[in-house]
Amino acid sequence: MVFVRSVILRVSPVLGSSFYVRRARRNITVAFFVGLITTGLVLSCLSFGDKATACSDVPTDNDTISTHAKVTGRRPSVRPGFTILTPSYKRESLLPAFLSTYASGNIPSLTSVIIQWVDQDSAPSDGFAQSLAKYPVPVYIVRTVDRSLNDRFRWPIPSSKVIASNVHEQGRSSLSDADVVLSIDDDLTFNVVDIEAGYQVFHEYASLGNPRMVGYFARDIESGLYHYPARPTYNIVLTKGAFLLTEWLTAYWADDLAQVRDYVTPGQPGRNCEDILMSYVVANKTGHPPLFYEAVGVDAGDRKENHGISINHPNLLSHRTTCVQLFEKHYGGSPLVSTSVQIRRRLQPLTAHH
Ligand SMILES: *[C@@H]1O[C@H](CO)[C@@H](O)[C@H](O)[C@H]1NC(C)=O
Ligand SMILES: *[C@@H]1O[C@H](CO)[C@@H](O)[C@H](O)[C@H]1NC(C)=O
Repeated sequence: MVFVRSVILRVSPVLGSSFYVRRARRNITVAFFVGLITTGLVLSCLSFGDKATACSDVPTDNDTISTHAKVTGRRPSVRPGFTILTPSYKRESLLPAFLSTYASGNIPSLTSVIIQWVDQDSAPSDGFAQSLAKYPVPVYIVRTVDRSLNDRFRWPIPSSKVIASNVHEQGRSSLSDADVVLSIDDDLTFNVVDIEAGYQVFHEYASLGNPRMVGYFARDIESGLYHYPARPTYNIVLTKGAFLLTEWLTAYWADDLAQVRDYVTPGQPGRNCEDILMSYVVANKTGHPPLFYEAVGVDAGDRKENHGISINHPNLLSHRTTCVQLFEKHYGGSPLVSTSVQIRRRLQPLTAHH
């Protein structure tokens, strides 16, 4: 393992974004300061493999950055803030803990939480609906169109779909205002500092016209095969915990994707492959690799998927491979781009290493 190069990315909320790049002494961990200098948040960008390719897609100097912004032709204005978007199916009992973690006002850039109520035959209990009033962050429980996991990417969400909320009816028109969502499963409770930091990384890249998915679970697909665990390189992050532009959610519903979307619905052979499909949609649209953020205290592996492999679904990997092959047939090859960059929060400032 080789650590190369040091990159410091500083964000000033007043002056807009700016990157400062500093070369570190050889073999020092690459440091990636992302926003929140005031809270002392420091992220590490770790690279594996040889020096030539390591961290190659992290901006390396002022020129690279301005050139890149020019090449991509725009500095899109991605509105600040993000919405949490979470499907939940018959698991109301999990939601109080989920909301206590995320909707308590501890994530500065979070503007709202949308829980997609997948079960068409039930409604939130009165007790749960009333409990929403205690959260300072706007919370919306919305009914999905159907049971398909495709629906976790439905956007925009009409305010007529709200079935419980702590926002008065007149205030609900901003329901689908976000440019960025965190797609996350209802049983995942991360440290909120990692959620804010993941958002800051996402927003920096998106603001430079270089948007990429930032996610907490990485996987690698090579030669049509789905690999888990990911190797030092990866080319997808899973939507059970990933930041997305809402324009990618809209792109997921393009007419020409109808056939592959149908393939991932319940009862079809590709059920539950919607997360892989989203990675294909984004890679096809952006041509960029995703970014893997290794959250503190979270196993980079996937608890559910681990259990799935050992207990419930011995064929899970081959099932995923079948999905991959269909998607690659649709795209006439793989649009996925590999990278080895990993982002991690460090608990001490960079100077401690000198
Ligand atoms: C990059 O830009 C900053 C701010 O404009 C400047 O202070 C710094 O010296 C520049 N770095 C290099 C390597 O040109
Ligand atoms: C995206 O997919 C279309 C076909 O659906 C293809 O023509 C195009 O080259 C792809 N772009 C990328 C970057 O993969």
